[in-house]
Amino acid sequence: ERTAIIVVAAGSGTRLGAGVPKALAKVAGESILAHALRVAVDPELASRVVVVTPPGDGRLDASIEAARREGVEVLAVEGGQTRQESVAAGLAQIGQARRVLVHDAARALTSKAQYQRVQSALSNGAVAAVPGLAVVDTLKQVDRQERVTSTPDRSRLRAVQTPQGFDAALLRRAHAAAGDSGATDDAALMERNGSIVQVVEGEEQALKITHPADIAWAERWLQEQAV
Ligand code: C5P
Repeated sequence: ERTAIIVVAAGSGTRLGAGVPKALAKVAGESILAHALRVAVDPELASRVVVVTPPGDGRLDASIEAARREGVEVLAVEGGQTRQESVAAGLAQIGQARRVLVHDAARALTSKAQYQRVQSALSNGAVAAVPGLAVVDTLKQVDRQERVTSTPDRSRLRAVQTPQGFDAALLRRAHAAAGDSGATDDAALMERNGSIVQVVEGEEQALKITHPADIAWAERWLQEQAV
């Protein structure tokens, strides 16, 4: 089935404090975006990759050029102020794809196997599939004064990652219906529209690089793989 991958890389990276867009921060000598595209640009995964870049900022262009590979169309499009707007900009460029995977560039070390687990769930009939891990901490819901209002059953919670895979027509519809929702992932928009979202196995290495300590963690992880 014709598949497109949207790699959202329009975040500013304020929390990382690297002074460049987060996608250009270096992990073991290579940009976060280069790491992400090394896996995503693969004809076995998709025929088109749309990279969503920070608005009015051409600094990602070189990394995108370098990731080109035969058998995959690689496009770039400018994102927006929120992740949701950035995904919407990417969705406008997926062409005739019937299936779309949305991936955070910041999850730089995500494996091909993770993409394949999501794709398998879609091939088996899911309209939405997201990788997730069991949570290790007990989570509390709080009110505005930080008073605990409930303790959800931890065994039924999952920390979800990307790529998140969708039937393209349904994701388009979910985005069109969403308005300015503040959703932090695409699955939430699908849930709101009544679609069943299937969780598949996630992986530690798909950690979202957010704070400086995450870069150190990612570099250690890469080093461990090399030995
Ligand atoms: O900010 P957050 O950690 O949720 O970002 C997750 C992903 O969404 C990152 O890869 C980031 O580049 C992307 N993003 C985006 N456009 C925004 C905000 C975030 O493409 N306006």
